[in-house]
Amino acid sequence: MRKKIVAGNWKMNTLPSEGVELAKAVVAGRGEVCECVNFIVCPPFTHLSQVIEAVKGSNIAVGAQDCATETKGAYTGEVAAQMIAALGCKYVILGHSERRQYYGETSETLNKKMAQAYANGLTPIYCVGENLEEREAGNHFAVCKAQIEEVVFNLTEEQFANLVIAYEPVWAIGTGKTATADQAQEIHAYIREVLREKFGALAEECPILYGGSCKPSNAAEIFAKEDVDGGLIGGAALVAGDFLAIGKGF
Ligand code: PGA
Repeated sequence: MRKKIVAGNWKMNTLPSEGVELAKAVVAGRGEVCECVNFIVCPPFTHLSQVIEAVKGSNIAVGAQDCATETKGAYTGEVAAQMIAALGCKYVILGHSERRQYYGETSETLNKKMAQAYANGLTPIYCVGENLEEREAGNHFAVCKAQIEEVVFNLTEEQFANLVIAYEPVWAIGTGKTATADQAQEIHAYIREVLREKFGALAEECPILYGGSCKPSNAAEIFAKEDVDGGLIGGAALVAGDFLAIGKGF
């Protein structure tokens, strides 16, 4: 049985006090959702420690939204994986399309970040996905395959066994447009097939999350698909009731 995961990517939203309130509200409502769902919240770096404190004693995990390529040193403005891990974070989102698009992250950068994450005991949530142009040209399979081959294929089996993948079509992120459940299933199954080529039966265990305008009204239909193991949620993760309701989609 693959893990069911609902992860909230808060992006550059919430002030520390608001983040703590949001986390507390998620903790307060957690009991209404099946224990089988693993909730993760990913606040900005500035309030990671306060949010970790706020969820203490609950079974909600905390992740960061990125980490540095280097271990430590003269890299002004960067945050090292070891710093994140020292706070008590368990996860780190890597390769989000906004990082690829606005900050020029490439597979080369991401290989280094993945290595940092694993060296510090963090589970990466590695994001892949095509943009609208690529989808319209029918290149979405090739784009996702390359993003997997260039990074995930460099992992050891042990590392791969501790990986979460998020498929996020760029055209669906923050746009209100969601991939249909069938579109999600089609590409999730394809991604799993690519993973199987390299990692064999281990591919069956890898959670693959859908992301892109996932909300309470569409989560259940998408999560019902065989190869969809949960969601990476942006906008709807900023409202505790919506985030929890997405978890009820299982
Ligand atoms: P969205 O973002 O749910 O606001 O579309 C998803 C994401 O980028 O992780």
